[in-house]
Amino acid sequence: NHYAIVMAGGVGSRFWPVSTTTFPKQFHDMLGTGETLIQRTFSRLSKRIPKENILILTNERYTDLVLEQLPEVSSKQVVAEPAMRNTAPCILYAALKIQRENPDALMVVAPSDHWIEDEKAFLDNLEKSFDACAKEDILMTLGIQPTFPNTGYGYIQYHKEASPIKKVAKFTEKPNYETAKQFLDKGNYLWNAGIFIWSVSSIIHAFTKFQKEMMILFEKGKKVYNTKDEKEFINTHYALAENISIDYAILEKAENVFVLPATFDWNDLGTWGSLYDKLEKTSVNNAIVNARVLDEDASGNMIRTANNKIVVVDGLKDYIIVDKEDVLLIYPKTKEQEIKNIRKEVENTFGEQ
Ligand code: GDD
Ligand code: MG
Repeated sequence: NHYAIVMAGGVGSRFWPVSTTTFPKQFHDMLGTGETLIQRTFSRLSKRIPKENILILTNERYTDLVLEQLPEVSSKQVVAEPAMRNTAPCILYAALKIQRENPDALMVVAPSDHWIEDEKAFLDNLEKSFDACAKEDILMTLGIQPTFPNTGYGYIQYHKEASPIKKVAKFTEKPNYETAKQFLDKGNYLWNAGIFIWSVSSIIHAFTKFQKEMMILFEKGKKVYNTKDEKEFINTHYALAENISIDYAILEKAENVFVLPATFDWNDLGTWGSLYDKLEKTSVNNAIVNARVLDEDASGNMIRTANNKIVVVDGLKDYIIVDKEDVLLIYPKTKEQEIKNIRKEVENTFGEQ
C-alpha cells in the first residue's frame, strides 16, 4: 500500500553555474560523495517503499537522465511532464495514477535534492506519519526547527500539545523577512521540510475542495491513466494546469494539516551557502569540492571546480568560487539568493550556459 513520488523537475537555479536547465542540481553529486542527490533520495526511500512503487516525476527533458542515474527504475515509473507547472499539478497527476492502481494507497512526496543525515530517524518519522494517515483523513508534514528567518521556506505554526503529531494552526509559504522574524520570536513555528505524507484519497479530496479547476482538468484523464492513451492526454492537457506549488495550492488552505517535528538533520541544499554549511571545512574554514586549494588568509569560502583544479586564494572572505569549463563565478555568499537572477542575466546576455 505504500508509494513514493520523487519530485525532480526543478531547475535549482541558485546553484548556477553547476546546476543548469539542461543539467539541474538533483542530477549532480553536489556533496562530493560519489552519488547524485536523486540517487541518494531514491536509495533512502527504497529502504521502506517497494522500488516498483516509487515514481519519479520530472520534466520530459530529464527522463533520460533519470533512467540513466536510476537503473533500477523502469521507464513507466518515470512520469514525464510536458510543461513546467510547479509541484501542485504533478502531485495531483501522480496521486490519480496511484489511485487507479491502488485506491487505498498511502504516499510520501519527496523532493529529489535534499540532504538528510540520519536515515534511521527519517524512516522512523516516515513510519509514524504513514500510521497517522492510515487512520485519519489528514495531510502530514515534517517540521524542522528553524534557526534563522529564512524567506525561502514554508512556516508551520502548530498547536502546542503533548502528542508527537501536532495539529497545524496555520501554514505560511515563503513569508517576507519581517514576518519570518516574528514567527521565530513566537516559538511555535517549524520550517516545512517539503516532505509530505498522506493517503491518495485525502490529497485528492483536498484538491477537489481547494483546486476545483485543476481537479476537473486532471479527472478528465481518469480513464486513460496507466494506459497507452495516457501520454496523449497529458501532452494535450498538462500545460493547461495552473502554475502553482502544493504549498500555496493546498497546504495554506487545508484545515486537516498536521506536523511531526522531524528528528533528523535536514538541509534543503538550496544555495551554495547551505552546501557550505554541510561540508567539512579546511583549517581556515573554507569548504572545498573537487579542487586542490591553497587557502592561506582566506576563509568562509565555498570553492568548487569541475576537474580538481588547483586554486590559490588569498585575502578573500565569504565568497563562492565555482569554476566550470565555460563559466567562472566569484560571488559574495551574502548575496547568494541573487544567483538565480544572475543566471537569467547571463542567459540574456550570452545565451544559455
Ligand atoms: N516534477 C516536478 N515538476 N518537480 C518539481 C517542479 C515541477 O514542475 N518544480 C519543482 N519541483 C521539485 C524540485 O526539484 C524540488 O525537488 C521540489 O519539487 C520542491 O521544489 P522547490 O522549487 O525546490 O521548492 P522550494 O524549495 O521553493 O519550496 C518547497 O520546499 C521548501 C523546503 O525545501 C516548499 O515546500 C517550502 O514550503 C519548503 O519549506
Ligand atoms: Mg527547494
